Amino acid sequence: RIPLVVDTDTASDDCFALLLALRDPRADLRAITMVQGNVGFDQQVHNAFLTLEVAGRLGDVPVHLGARESLAGGWVGAEDVHGDGVGGQRRTNDAAPDPEPAVDALLRLSRAHEGELRIVAIGPLTNLAHAIDRDPGFAARVRELVIMGGSLDGVGNVTPHAEYNIYADVEAAAAVLGAPFPRVRLVTWSPLTLRDAVFDATRVARIDALGTAMSDFFVRANRAPFDFDVAHGVGGSTHPDTLSVLTAIDPAVVLEERAVEVDVVRAGERRGATDVRDATAASSLTAVTRADGERLYAAMLGILAGER
Ligand code: BDR
Ligand code: CA
Repeated sequence: RIPLVVDTDTASDDCFALLLALRDPRADLRAITMVQGNVGFDQQVHNAFLTLEVAGRLGDVPVHLGARESLAGGWVGAEDVHGDGVGGQRRTNDAAPDPEPAVDALLRLSRAHEGELRIVAIGPLTNLAHAIDRDPGFAARVRELVIMGGSLDGVGNVTPHAEYNIYADVEAAAAVLGAPFPRVRLVTWSPLTLRDAVFDATRVARIDALGTAMSDFFVRANRAPFDFDVAHGVGGSTHPDTLSVLTAIDPAVVLEERAVEVDVVRAGERRGATDVRDATAASSLTAVTRADGERLYAAMLGILAGER
């Protein structure tokens, strides 16, 4: 099984990505690390414990608290997209976060699983930037980092140019993309997610018909982002975070990738944009350019059909 950490700003598609990481037998989720992002930090922590509860994994996987602010300070939420991130559902457990801070957990696990650990970063990159800053050897000990962030064609979702996870901590994104990870894969917003990771109304209805605790949770938590995405011209809800987790544990979901170099735009009206070009020399960074959307959907359907 693949030792994994998911670094998350837990709301809607982050919750579903966690369900996958918690329930797929290929994944050995060692920790959930929380980072500032989509909704208020405490709400995100609530959502992570609710997700653990729904997955029947409460007490199995520690939740570590990380950065509440970006490197530059402050926080840019996405509550217009996610609401509270779970459609008003409340946890019935009172589990507490692990006292070890997220960065310490990341450093410890990178040592314990040196050369084996995969990290899936599905929120802003603040925690990872802190880990790199604390320990220059950190990046080299990680087997693979999968980042949900950026766009390949300059199309943003929080500004016309910038994708949310990059925009919400531009300085951290630049630091992480400049660090010596042996292998980094980018799962981007456009065009990849918009083409290959959309669940339309038919797909959601099929999930609804499963009638399990996990499918009920999914449908309620997915309602706000589904409506938001559809109102913005997308054919359904977007699931880049689940695609990112699946990329780390199921190589067959990646149909095509290419070696790239990325500049994170830090100033001006394009702040947060990712300028991507083909790599000219050997590169540890690849961008997924085509994914098997049917395989992603089938994986989620299988997870959500499961009884706890
Ligand atoms: C990213 O931002 C969040 O809203 C989603 O969870 C995803 O990680 C998409 O831009
Ligand atoms: Ca996310």
